[in-house]
Amino acid sequence: MRDGFHFYEPRQGHDLPHDPFNAIVGPRPIGWISSRDRDGHLNLAPYSFFNAFNYTPPIVGFSSIGYKDSVRNIEATGEFCWHLATRALAEQMNASCAAVAPEVDEFALAGLTPRSSRVVGVPHVAEARVTFECRLSQVVRLQAADGTSLDTWLVLGEVVGVHIDKQLLRDGVYQTAAAHPILRGGGPADYFEISAEQNFKMARPT
Ligand SMILES: Cc1cc2nc3c(=O)[nH]c(=O)nc-3n(C[C@H](O)[C@H](O)[C@H](O)COP(=O)(O)O)c2cc1C
Repeated sequence: MRDGFHFYEPRQGHDLPHDPFNAIVGPRPIGWISSRDRDGHLNLAPYSFFNAFNYTPPIVGFSSIGYKDSVRNIEATGEFCWHLATRALAEQMNASCAAVAPEVDEFALAGLTPRSSRVVGVPHVAEARVTFECRLSQVVRLQAADGTSLDTWLVLGEVVGVHIDKQLLRDGVYQTAAAHPILRGGGPADYFEISAEQNFKMARPT
């Protein structure tokens, strides 16, 4: 026992009022994902187990806990779009997570406008200030350390088209804080908003 530290083995429980895991690995960027089923029904949902995994070509991925509509659609069509979740669109992003039937269009539910994409067939959110059009590269079913298959699906896609609101570019340089991105913390409701005050600079050692 280390004095002053709470230790737990997750398989035995955390012995705390709330599981701290996603409050620790946070705040996380949000994968706000549009997809379409084979019949053309639109789908939009947020995934905070999301990140970027490669630079060239750019690859992003999100993890679906359970085989959700987004995974099913993306496996069926091989395409999706990612949108930057920003403070101005926070309520709409949240509304799009409603557990509704696959044929319910979360664009309409959240009051958002679908806009045709340039490279992929699935439309994106017109109101989003940054959009990545993506082609599915892999769906990986996650496994525990003992090899047990989990009902968790990591969807990875290559970014094949990028839309950036030009107001977010200063002299051609993308300004992360300018869009006021929101990120997911822990608990049922914690989010963080990024603004210029959080920025600090540190060069890599040479
Ligand atoms: C901010 C936020 C982040 C979420 N992150 C995830 C996630 O990483 N993985 C997941 O499976 N569900 C996540 N959810 C829940 C899904 O959005 C929800 O289950 C949704 O209905 C899935 O939609 P779909 O079935 O249309 O794909 C999140 C919800 C919110 C509001």
